[in-house]
Amino acid sequence: MQLNQVKAIITGGASGLGHAVAQHLVANGGHVALFDVNEEKGQAAAQALSGRFFRTDVTSEEGVAANVNAAKEALGGLNVVINCAGILGAGRVLGKEGPMALGTFASTVMVNLVGSFNVAKAGASLMQHNEAGEDGERGVIINTASVAAYEGQIGQAAYSASKGGVVGMTLPMARELSRFGIRVATIAPGIFWTPMVDGMPPQVQESLSASIPFPSRLGKPEEFASTVAFILGNRYINGETIRLDGAVRLQPK
Ligand SMILES: NC(=O)c1ccc[n+]([C@@H]2O[C@H](COP(=O)([O-])OP(=O)(O)OC[C@H]3O[C@@H](n4cnc5c(N)ncnc54)[C@H](O)[C@@H]3O)[C@@H](O)[C@H]2O)c1
Repeated sequence: MQLNQVKAIITGGASGLGHAVAQHLVANGGHVALFDVNEEKGQAAAQALSGRFFRTDVTSEEGVAANVNAAKEALGGLNVVINCAGILGAGRVLGKEGPMALGTFASTVMVNLVGSFNVAKAGASLMQHNEAGEDGERGVIINTASVAAYEGQIGQAAYSASKGGVVGMTLPMARELSRFGIRVATIAPGIFWTPMVDGMPPQVQESLSASIPFPSRLGKPEEFASTVAFILGNRYINGETIRLDGAVRLQPK
């Protein structure tokens, strides 16, 4: 898919990786609708990009369905869904104050996994009716997992479970949606410099950078965005999760 033909919903588009994707797509002639719970940042980001903002909680089935429809109207079509909304949900299974509250585990899985599924299915439901492009392509769904899907650290049981689920649903979804010409791919980022990481203590950030073999620094959101663009442009990528991590392999802690 050519970037200037892209009409994309980007969840988590108010911040970090999602925002970088929105910037990249718009800079290349695409049109974007940002879905986020952060109204202030979302409105500002959308305005700066001449895009649209829809206050959306990705865990709401009704809210997502309504806003996906509204976004398609506003964009004059929909052919790309990019799931970047996510939360850390950090915490030990057996913490100092007792076992992790089930709500912590469940809400992490709700936002990161169930939310991604929710937006993907609502998007696919509309994109299946698109006019077929080259090779019969009608749309692309890109999810964001994490390397924590594979080697989660202590304190990441909930986060890793949610991201492992995102990796797991990628192939069956790609297989199922292939009859509509809708591709599904996932990116599993290592450690990127975004507000999510910005909030961590400096010593944690330094040790994270030092743990990355090459280049020994945090990933840049633009590097994530250019990977999204690569997936959009290369029709043969389907059903796969791509690690984007400078060869980092997370240690237990
Ligand atoms: N930054 C990293 O190092 C890193 C590494 C691996 C994976 N990821 C994943 O990449 C994605 C983007 O992360 P980021 O670093 O840009 O984080 P970020 O915190 O900068 O952005 C996440 C955005 O998601 C939004 N959001 C949270 N809950 C939501 C909900 N229920 N509905 C709609 N929007 C919601 C937030 O408001 C925020 O704008 C996340 O899924 C994250 O797990 C990030």
